[in-house]
Amino acid sequence: MDLEGMKATASARSNIAIIKYWGMRDYSLGLPSNSSISFTMDDTLSTTTTVEFSRKCPRDSLSIDGRPAEPNETARASQFLNIVRKMAGVRMRAKIASRNTFPRSAGMASSASAFAALACAATNACGIKLGGKELSQLAMLGSGSASRSVFGGCVEWRAGAKAGGSDCYARQISKKEDWAHLRNAIAIVDSGKKAIGSREGMEITARTSELFAARLKTIGKRIAEMKGAVARRDFQKMAPLIMRESANMHATMLDSWPPIIYLKEPSFAIMRKIHELNSAHGKYVAAYTFDAGPNAHVYTTKRHENDVIAALRGVGGVKRVLSCGIGDGTKISENHLF
Ligand code: PMV
Repeated sequence: MDLEGMKATASARSNIAIIKYWGMRDYSLGLPSNSSISFTMDDTLSTTTTVEFSRKCPRDSLSIDGRPAEPNETARASQFLNIVRKMAGVRMRAKIASRNTFPRSAGMASSASAFAALACAATNACGIKLGGKELSQLAMLGSGSASRSVFGGCVEWRAGAKAGGSDCYARQISKKEDWAHLRNAIAIVDSGKKAIGSREGMEITARTSELFAARLKTIGKRIAEMKGAVARRDFQKMAPLIMRESANMHATMLDSWPPIIYLKEPSFAIMRKIHELNSAHGKYVAAYTFDAGPNAHVYTTKRHENDVIAALRGVGGVKRVLSCGIGDGTKISENHLF
């Protein structure tokens, strides 16, 4: 094996779902209960990762933003590399370095961009060339939402129905260029680590929430409506769907036992503020969505971006507001981090 050829670097960007993934139909294979839809963010929320497999590495090592990663983070990356090593017939350990453009202290440490970049860099370092579909199927084994960061623009991660998951993969449904006017204003409410990880949280919800079954019954209709609105680039149709979908997922979390509460008081204040703003305009100018945490992601258009940012800054408890546009999928880079 050519040692010089065992290094590669890739970048990936975070994505923010407008139809959320919460719950799995198969926990061992990581197959989701429902399809989900997201927009991939631009370089404001990006991760670049270099992977080098080498005989000189006694064990896998991971540094994030110039500092050694926590043991559990290294273990998760190492487990993921085991899958890639098996695919490639490689036994060497690896050095991994990762850099984020967004501050870690912003509480936005994104497993989506991290595992999409790692999947792309690690396979390329091993000389495996995967198509987008296969790369999304690999990335989802690191983190479900990472499957969507393989593509840019608007992306659907199809849950599929087959037992082995061969029909479960992500694909682009609308290209980045169609969304040059779309912005995402992010209101940071809490930069701390979440109390309960998404995998554990969704498992508790699926097991204990009665509303969860109702969610799965109605989500197909919401997905069809959202895809129609995305195809027409109809923000007036998308906005209420985005907000109600976020509320629907958080309702199942609250209905879980013990309840899972990610939203905090400023998150609710943001919801009220956005409804006020929309009412004042007599149309939808902004739509909030919340992942497994209290920070708000507010989709809006370039025209109303400054108004939305000012409104978010005026909400008590909001620590800072970032803003980004829609970006690309995974990319290979020659700018290695070491
Ligand atoms: O990517 P994961 O496995 O950590 O799960 C992400 C779950 C949500 O962010 C809450 C929803 C989503 O679809 O991104």
